[in-house]
Amino acid sequence: MTTIDDAVEIDGDKLMQFVFQAVGEVGATLNTALVVMGDRLGLYRALAEAGPLSPAELAERTGTSERYVREWLNTQAAGAYVTYDPDSGRYTLPPEQAAALTDPNCPVYLPGFFQTALGSVMDSPKIVDAARSGAGFGWHEHVHDVHEGCERFFRPGYNAHLMAEWLPALDGVVGKLERGALVADVGCGHGASTILMAQAYPNSTFAGSDYHDGSIETARRHAQEAGLAGRARFETSPAAAYGGTGYDLVTMFDCLHDMGDPVGAARHVHGTLKPDGTWMIVEPMAGDRVEENLNPVGRAYYGFSTLLCTPASLSQEVGLALGAQAGEARIRDVVTAGGFTRFRRAAETPINIVYEARP
Ligand SMILES: C[S@@+](CC[C@H](N)C(=O)[O-])C[C@H]1O[C@@H](n2cnc3c(N)ncnc32)[C@H](O)[C@@H]1O
Repeated sequence: MTTIDDAVEIDGDKLMQFVFQAVGEVGATLNTALVVMGDRLGLYRALAEAGPLSPAELAERTGTSERYVREWLNTQAAGAYVTYDPDSGRYTLPPEQAAALTDPNCPVYLPGFFQTALGSVMDSPKIVDAARSGAGFGWHEHVHDVHEGCERFFRPGYNAHLMAEWLPALDGVVGKLERGALVADVGCGHGASTILMAQAYPNSTFAGSDYHDGSIETARRHAQEAGLAGRARFETSPAAAYGGTGYDLVTMFDCLHDMGDPVGAARHVHGTLKPDGTWMIVEPMAGDRVEENLNPVGRAYYGFSTLLCTPASLSQEVGLALGAQAGEARIRDVVTAGGFTRFRRAAETPINIVYEARP
């Protein structure tokens, strides 16, 4: 038994256990940059296509430097992202890792998750300053990796769940979309959800909006590329002031908690919906109590919430700062304060909760 001061006794075994936990986490932190590196340089894709490769063969295929690739492969092997065969000196990307790291249509495609995490870490000195002063830091102020990574991570999940499970879980919404509905997708970012819905429901019209003009420019470009420019239009505007009325459906994907004045946004949604319209709110999976969120998903969300969501809300008027782990009770409070009389949890996945609100 050792002591570091007279008052506190230190259990040496527990201390070393914590040190080894920290070693693992420093390795994982560095791996965030290394996954982005593997994604950008095409290293995972080349391994997925070619099967077992030596560092020289992977470097040759990707036009990269063998010495860097060798070191990168060893980090990936140590972290069980690839396997290493000492006899051949070759490295293999297992099929599950290949799906999650190289297939943009895989529902759990991960490179965007790492990209947005890396962007968040890159901006963390600004959050340290903000934590001292209490100032906010807007979504629009972040490096591009935060915005692009967010879209790349969320789109495959929306593609897998939105049309198959989430919209059908809402009362009468799919029928309206099939016949021809007017939809507002608020806080739409790069418009991934807007475009997926517009592709799935050709009789409906979609109005995406976001307060960040850079994201709206990207959303417009993506809609144009998808041949949807006529049915998916985009405007730069805050959630409390987007244009149009008479909407059958208003959607918000992972953005209500980022807003400074979510109650003001809720009031605006209420005013722009048809009397029998629906507001779909997709929020991160969270329990109401802190102790319910002390798990790996909650850990990642509290991390993003500290570096992205809470500063984003604090940067705006009101600055309610719900945080990414707001939980159902707090979302219900916001929705009912906005004038809605009906609210329920309609669907969920391990990482999202889908709420339905009706006027
Ligand atoms: C985590 S991103 C989600 C983007 C998009 N909905 C998606 O699922 O990919 C949060 C978005 O909320 C937007 N946002 C934050 N505050 C907003 C506000 N007051 N009005 C409109 N959009 C807002 C941000 O610009 C950002 O695009």
